[in-house]
Amino acid sequence: MSHPLPSRERPSGSVHGPCTAVRRVLYLTTPIYYVNATPHLGHAYTTIVADAMCRYHRLAGHEVFFLTGTDEHGDKIAQAAGKTAEMPQAFVDRNSAAFRAQWDALGITYDDFIRTTEPRHQAVVQAVLQRLWDKGDEIYFGKYGGQYCVGCERFYTEKEIVDGQCPDHQTPLQHIEEENYFFRMSKYQEWLRRELEAHPDRVRPERYRNELLGFLREPLEDLCISRPRARLEWGIPLPFDDRFVTYVWFDALLNYVSALGPLGSERFETLWPHVEHVIGKDILKPHGVYWPCMLKAAGLPVYRRLNVHGYWSLGGGKMSKSVGNVVEALALTEKYGHDAFRYFLMREMPFGLDASFSEEALVGRLNADLANDLGNLVARATTLIGTARGGVVPAPGPGTDAEARVQVALARTRAEVDQAMEEFAFHRALGAIWELLGVLNRYVDATQPWALVRAPDAASRLDTILYTLAEALRCLGILLAPFVPSAAARIRQALGQSGEPRLGDVEWGRLAAGTRVERLSGLFPRVDERRPASAPPEVAAPATARISIDEFRRLDLRVGEVLDAERVPKSKKLLRLTVQVGDETRTVVAGIAEHYAPEALRGRKVVVVANLEPATLMGISSNGMVLAGEAGGTLALLMLDRDLPPGARIR
Ligand code: MSP
Repeated sequence: MSHPLPSRERPSGSVHGPCTAVRRVLYLTTPIYYVNATPHLGHAYTTIVADAMCRYHRLAGHEVFFLTGTDEHGDKIAQAAGKTAEMPQAFVDRNSAAFRAQWDALGITYDDFIRTTEPRHQAVVQAVLQRLWDKGDEIYFGKYGGQYCVGCERFYTEKEIVDGQCPDHQTPLQHIEEENYFFRMSKYQEWLRRELEAHPDRVRPERYRNELLGFLREPLEDLCISRPRARLEWGIPLPFDDRFVTYVWFDALLNYVSALGPLGSERFETLWPHVEHVIGKDILKPHGVYWPCMLKAAGLPVYRRLNVHGYWSLGGGKMSKSVGNVVEALALTEKYGHDAFRYFLMREMPFGLDASFSEEALVGRLNADLANDLGNLVARATTLIGTARGGVVPAPGPGTDAEARVQVALARTRAEVDQAMEEFAFHRALGAIWELLGVLNRYVDATQPWALVRAPDAASRLDTILYTLAEALRCLGILLAPFVPSAAARIRQALGQSGEPRLGDVEWGRLAAGTRVERLSGLFPRVDERRPASAPPEVAAPATARISIDEFRRLDLRVGEVLDAERVPKSKKLLRLTVQVGDETRTVVAGIAEHYAPEALRGRKVVVVANLEPATLMGISSNGMVLAGEAGGTLALLMLDRDLPPGARIR
């Protein structure tokens, strides 16, 4: 399945709808992925959140253009191709097709898939280079020597090198000295700093804007934008000197423009003002520094927004193909279903922060959130309508406070989802929908509709309850569509809703009495949970037992900053904390919910036992423990009486 500009999303050239209202437009891009490996969890995350965002905007009636693709030039690709018997073009064709097939299998609704080896892309790269060359002062020829990492395709400065090696790949660097063309990026340093100051929401979350401002406090060097063909053939020749090919980042970033057609095309004019990029934090510098400078120099407007997400790790380490710690997205999506996989990724990782991935945690969420909270509600409600009213939605009788609460909760959820999606906060949008599910499940428990089925004088009350449930499910079938599209479609279908869902229909009372409802059970079948990691038995040390200083030193106690805190669903005691410890962001589940409100903890510095074995609590993998004292029912978290940075050691 591919999406070569389906007519429904085809940019019309006009952003005005049929009436007077201006139609909102979103042009959203993912990074283009290197084809020296097959897709993995990290790529899948970026692509899935971008897909959910596009689906949400389409649901809201906005005009959407969603771009993804593959990055196919450069040293890294040439070397990977060199290790196979294939010619580079055949190699990139095969690997690019694997990305495309992966996104198709996951149901990603991209509108265009760009490849940097396509003529349409090469033409734009050469046109931009020529434009800069013709301006006279943007590109110059010079000599450069430095330490180069093939994996990163860049030179490293002395300051960045760790033990003589690439800090990312931990591999030796090569000293390379050669003549090349340079883009005079340094002259845009001050302009870029002012841009970032003037547009606080251009890069979000804010921590990444701050990181960019941090880079810009150091002198910005010019960017080497060519590679001699004597060393590297696999690239786009410079239009003004074909002894050189274009540096892969200069080539790759332009995909966002080349996908729209030749410079100055109508589609460019329509879509470019609305462009937003989604990237992982690993490629912040090229997108946050090189790219705006390139655009400025080429006389093109800077993108509207850069949305930066954190990194998934597996068991603590940074996970990427280069460090050999790869998860094949396909394997787990096939095992647990695409919707469950999407849900887990978006719910588990607060956008912008790091998170750790585990199959156990995925199964935990699948069972608790999807099978229990959602699947059971859908099964209970549709079954009841089947049994009690022959599968037909009754007209509601008079409502009570209980129904009013459901309606208020729905309106609140709708508003919170809008707000969260506006801020790229997928986990909050899902959190809001699950709050509504909580309200609905409590409504069913409190109103006990099954007890009313055989009570003749309760018919009107039962009608009201069944209508309320059916109407709430209809709205959920719309609200859930961006996140769990297949399950949402099944809910809508069970509720007799055909046609494209529209966010505007999340409005109480639109469900017509008389609508036929089908029974829908097993929306998310439960998965047998693996035995959770067993918690060590709690044995209080006798007061007289002493430990040596060496034993004490085995504890790695650190300052942790609480970035986020939320209640663990279905648990009275547990809070799930996202804690920054040094460079790492960890999830720590703490039994403090009865003593601290989540919002009171955000931004606080606590004491973390950093070398505790991870344990799974309520399906959540907890990595560390926060220290607290307790006496007479009062619990007090250990905090610092002076400020220290997260990660500082406590002795
Ligand atoms: N080709 C460049 C991007 C050029 S864009 C003009 C590139 N490609 S990549 O194949 O290495 O993909 C990097 C992207 O994959 C990251 O920015 C991120 O979106 C995603 N991820 C790869 N590993 C990841 C994790 N472990 N966690 C989250 N996302 C990560 O860089």
